[in-house]
Amino acid sequence: MADNNNHTNSACVESNMDPMSYDVVAVSAEFIQTRTKYRPEIGIICGSGLGGLADLVDKPDIFPYNQIPNFPVSTVPGHVGRLLLGNLEKVPVIIMQGRFHAYEGYELWKTAMPVRVMKLLGVQKIIVTNAGGGLNKGFQVGDIMFIKDHINLPGFSCQNPLRGPNDERFGPRFFPTNDLYCHEYRQLARQVGQELGLQGVMREGVYAMLGGPNYETVAELKMLRKMGVDSVGMSTLPETIVAHHCGIKVFACSLITNKCIVEYGSDIDTNHEEVIEVGLRRAEDLKQFVTKMIVKMSTI
Ligand code: HPA
Repeated sequence: MADNNNHTNSACVESNMDPMSYDVVAVSAEFIQTRTKYRPEIGIICGSGLGGLADLVDKPDIFPYNQIPNFPVSTVPGHVGRLLLGNLEKVPVIIMQGRFHAYEGYELWKTAMPVRVMKLLGVQKIIVTNAGGGLNKGFQVGDIMFIKDHINLPGFSCQNPLRGPNDERFGPRFFPTNDLYCHEYRQLARQVGQELGLQGVMREGVYAMLGGPNYETVAELKMLRKMGVDSVGMSTLPETIVAHHCGIKVFACSLITNKCIVEYGSDIDTNHEEVIEVGLRRAEDLKQFVTKMIVKMSTI
């Protein structure tokens, strides 16, 4: 396990405080806020292929995760884990370079806790990207799918980042999710895609999260396809659920890095190298797309 569910750099370890509570998250946020002049409006969580976005940030203030009190710490060797604050095309942003996945051993709340830190830093809008397997028969490798809805499979068995005490200062105990992925942002994304000549690779669909780390079985994929799932992956939903709960408007997209194998005996298989390779190939387009989205999202 990457983590034993304690905060190593944590002030709340000794106390019995809820690690997602306002007071605990406020310690992380205050640490950052008192060490930067930037007041971010938009948060970005980079999935495979988008790490390079950080290079576009002008004079960033950089916070390694292990220096931020109460913040989850990545224990995976070689894993970039830092927050960057700065201006991207004059828009104040905060970028999470390196995210936490459940398959690494993190509790779901921990994978999403940085979103609450963003909230307390003033973030009102968030962009979340990921690598996803294409289950929709019409999707090609390299497509960019705007997430219009999701199926939170871990949620079917009580695995939810918001499980546990609810701190009303973030949001209500029960809340709707029918417009979790802001329809205005998706409309904007279609427009941006057209402006960049990416209309041929732009898709829209339903994303399902599975725990991983194994890719899906054929039977699982057949079931998911019947359920109306277009792409599958192992991330994103903890962050988008927590963002929506605390009133952050959400845009999310999947880079389709592989086609899901839905037949037995196929000589193709899904592998991590392919996922990384496609991420790198589409990286430049994705970087331009997200940059333009940030500029436009800052105006609405
Ligand atoms: N399944 C799950 N997660 C993934 C996939 C996939 O096919 N591709 C990239 N992330």
